[in-house]
Amino acid sequence: MGIESVLSEHRTFHPDQSFVSRANVSGMVAYEKLCTAANKNYEEFWANLARELIVWKKPFTKTLNDSNAPFYKWFEDGELNVSYNCLDKHLSSQPNKIAIIFEADNGDINNVTYKELYEKVCQFANGLKTFNLNLGDRVVIYLPMGIEAVVAMLACARIGLTHSVVFGGFSAKSIQERIKDAQAKLVITADVQFRGGKILPLKAAVDEAFILGGCESVVGNVVLKKSNDAIELKNKEVWWHELIKNQSKDCDPIYVNAEHPLFLLYTSGSTGTPKGVQHSSAGYLLHAMNTMRWTFDIKGDDIYWCTADVGWITGHTYVAYGPLAMGATQLIYEGIPTFPHGGRFWQMIEKHHVSIFYTAPTAIRSLIKASESNKESNPDTYDLSSLRLLGSVGEPINPEAWMWYYEKIGHHQCPIVDTFWQTETGGHVITPLPGATPLVPGSCTLPFPGIDAAIVDEAGHEVPWGTGGLLVIKKPWPSMIRTIWGDPERYKKSYYPEELGGKVYLAGDGAIRDKTTGYFTIMGRIDDVLSVSGHRLGTMEIESSLVSNPLVAEAAVVGKPHEIKGESIVAYVVLKGKRPEGDEAKAIVNQLRDWVGKEIGPIAKPEDIRFGDNLPKTRSGKIMRRLLRSLAKGEEITSDISTLDNPSILEQLKKTIQ
Ligand code: PRX
Repeated sequence: MGIESVLSEHRTFHPDQSFVSRANVSGMVAYEKLCTAANKNYEEFWANLARELIVWKKPFTKTLNDSNAPFYKWFEDGELNVSYNCLDKHLSSQPNKIAIIFEADNGDINNVTYKELYEKVCQFANGLKTFNLNLGDRVVIYLPMGIEAVVAMLACARIGLTHSVVFGGFSAKSIQERIKDAQAKLVITADVQFRGGKILPLKAAVDEAFILGGCESVVGNVVLKKSNDAIELKNKEVWWHELIKNQSKDCDPIYVNAEHPLFLLYTSGSTGTPKGVQHSSAGYLLHAMNTMRWTFDIKGDDIYWCTADVGWITGHTYVAYGPLAMGATQLIYEGIPTFPHGGRFWQMIEKHHVSIFYTAPTAIRSLIKASESNKESNPDTYDLSSLRLLGSVGEPINPEAWMWYYEKIGHHQCPIVDTFWQTETGGHVITPLPGATPLVPGSCTLPFPGIDAAIVDEAGHEVPWGTGGLLVIKKPWPSMIRTIWGDPERYKKSYYPEELGGKVYLAGDGAIRDKTTGYFTIMGRIDDVLSVSGHRLGTMEIESSLVSNPLVAEAAVVGKPHEIKGESIVAYVVLKGKRPEGDEAKAIVNQLRDWVGKEIGPIAKPEDIRFGDNLPKTRSGKIMRRLLRSLAKGEEITSDISTLDNPSILEQLKKTIQ
């Protein structure tokens, strides 16, 4: 997918009048009015929203405290409970409304009303209290997608514990690193998870994490039983169902300060190990709710489905917190898009009458491919007329995939919100509002009202429309990252670098605005962060994992464009012994792929590993990644390589080991 084709895209799709007339933000004038209100009196704009949307135990009197910038505080003297806002608030008005429709991997369905969800959360929160934890203690959650994952998160929020969800596809070592960094007191996991017809162990990875060491902070492990296999629990381990036995179905919420850390979520950066992005309670909740209202245009009768796993930020904001705080009915799915066939998503939309559907471009691209293979996988086979709005998240969506989504899934009737945001932003920051913004395939269009996004050059000066540069956000906003857990310096350096004046938030993406419309197009990360199937991975993490293998002397990792996954991982490896050839090379490739899979998780396995006697370096010893990226794409090296110390190894590194 070339960026040129995206930039030359000018097809424009206006929202249908019937959509506009019912929309929560109706028409561009309404959108502009909101932006003007935010511009005119920035703090008052957010304060009004916070008063309108959040139920406060103690109202705030101060909106923004920027005295210790960039460590901003919002609504800092207010008190609330996030789980109260997601559950208790709805008990009088809609106790019997379905909160979650859960569809298991095997197709079993389980519905939970708001009242039932409240009771589950309270019971589990009461169970958690038996561990005698303190306010703000960290809890690692390593669970499959399901009702319990949401219950675990909300139960933590209910009693002021800070959760840190680890995606079920991450390895034992990744769990161990996160437990250690967060100094977690408790782990919540399941014996197994079901995905794509397979049973995959989960608790075994937690056990292994403990064996790796450094997890001494943990005082207990709660285990959800999913399979019928008997396993025996050890000391400090307790079954979920035993923990909640005899617990009351009511639990008074613990009210916390607006800035109380609701959660940490680890994500990859360009350097070092994954960083614990810390989010607040009130500011985060506010943006989760308001984006549900304005971006997703959520209404009381919608059936909303966000396909993300709660292991990622999308699953936090747009599965666990946003929809519940807005009192919506949502679908949660345990499995994968292509099981038992590539029409599973479309079949589920038909079956559950989904009206708002939110997924990632990588899923769309894989389903486009699958749609041609058989009738079951073809969306034309299903009645998708319940849909009224579509969304995309996590990576750039190429215009071809956008058009397919618009035509085949939305039947020209559904606006597509291409939402740009990040773990650090907490919620959408650049996105169309579906009843207002004319859509252009491949562009995330315009900033959400109140988000002051801009594009600057390396010195921090704003560039004219039509010129590419660094995406920044000029003013703090309520749902922004508060700090990196345990490393405030890294927070400052990563997001408020001195080079840009230290006053604007650096997103880490390159972007360009259209010359006439001012629409934003994201051009991809400017750092060494990859997006593989929408999953964020640092090249450094993969390199460190490779060099920790006893066979490896040196490694460099780059991304290469991939038709379905967006990007795939290419690793250049120098072994300690001699450069392998033939079958030996193949065997080592497999060994190294498994190694990375075990160290980080299967998503981080390099697709392509190449061996050289050395890596291309400048005379000062710097690896020339630009050349490695070109080699990965199979491009001829035509640029000047005179600064290269060892040009001959380029030939070796061209070779992919099949
Ligand atoms: O590069 C951008 C890409 O995903 C990165 C953030 O990744 P993560 O923190 O894992 O959050 C993903 C889900 C919000 C961004 O820096 N990205 C996200 N959404 C888009 C996108 N790139 C282009 N278009 C988007 N809509």
